[in-house]
Amino acid sequence: MNQPIDLAHLPLRVEAGLPLRVSPMQAGQTLAQHLPALQQLVHERLEVEGGMLFSGFAGIDVAAFQGFAGAFGHPLLSYEFGSTPRSKVGAGGVYTSTEFPAHRAIPLHNEQAYTTEWPMRIWFYCAQAAEQGGETPIADSREVYRRIDPAIRQRFADQQLLYVRNYGNGLDLPWQQVFNTDERQAVERYCRDKGIQFEWLDGDELRTRQRCQGVAQHPRTGDWVWFNQAHLFHLSALDAETQEILIDSVGLEGLPRNVYYGDGTPIEASLLDEVRGVLDECAIRFPWHSGDILMLDNMLTAHARAPFKGPRKVVVAMAEGRTAEGRR
Ligand SMILES: [Fe+2]
Repeated sequence: MNQPIDLAHLPLRVEAGLPLRVSPMQAGQTLAQHLPALQQLVHERLEVEGGMLFSGFAGIDVAAFQGFAGAFGHPLLSYEFGSTPRSKVGAGGVYTSTEFPAHRAIPLHNEQAYTTEWPMRIWFYCAQAAEQGGETPIADSREVYRRIDPAIRQRFADQQLLYVRNYGNGLDLPWQQVFNTDERQAVERYCRDKGIQFEWLDGDELRTRQRCQGVAQHPRTGDWVWFNQAHLFHLSALDAETQEILIDSVGLEGLPRNVYYGDGTPIEASLLDEVRGVLDECAIRFPWHSGDILMLDNMLTAHARAPFKGPRKVVVAMAEGRTAEGRR
């Protein structure tokens, strides 16, 4: 058992809050130099605060980031069954955070909460902060859960969610990219293994359906968290014009992505607007500085991306895969 950490005597500057901010006392110091203290700090505080921002450390590059993220007892994960385009960045387990267009915001979400297997931990390294915007806003998923109307919470807990995705019609990522293979059999194996229903359609199109949690309980802290991506997958996430064009061209069934209650009944757009309102109220924004690393407990803390201008490079790493309890 580790001795409780004495923050006053730590050779680091630590400011409580979300994110907990950690920086060196003197310029020029590296993460590697402070690794044992940082590991202990993470051990004691990550699951209390939900996220930590390491700022002002010297000598960070993608390789140092990879080494740091891998220093907390779990190998880095590969990005499977993704929902946005990403590329590998040099070192194993490090990816571009997303290649989603710069002018668009990505709403708050917990990574891979749209499936039944997700990383417990996620790190972001800002190699180059954008000139304008490009923040990674975060939110306390325990607080989101508390603020959501209890009747909605109950409904999401009882009924769960059914995510439906269509690949290969040119409107979203091709299945080859999402499943990282050109072989249909490999896709089928993956889906059977993960409890995802699949259906091959004409023209090399694939449709998947997966029943997933709406809320979840953190395995170590016992906290209940709002844990789904209904507000991102639902048709109402798109503007009215795009909704109309999509429905005209592929129909409701063929939408690149959509989500229903677990039994297949539609989710009310107004209910998701309420959820989006709570997420907005809970958003915490802070600027990136090149060289910063943000480490989040992916169940306790959601993340987003603000629109930006000019070049921006934020890469991501994930670790400690967890499977939903009672996955069917
Ligand atoms: Fe994300």
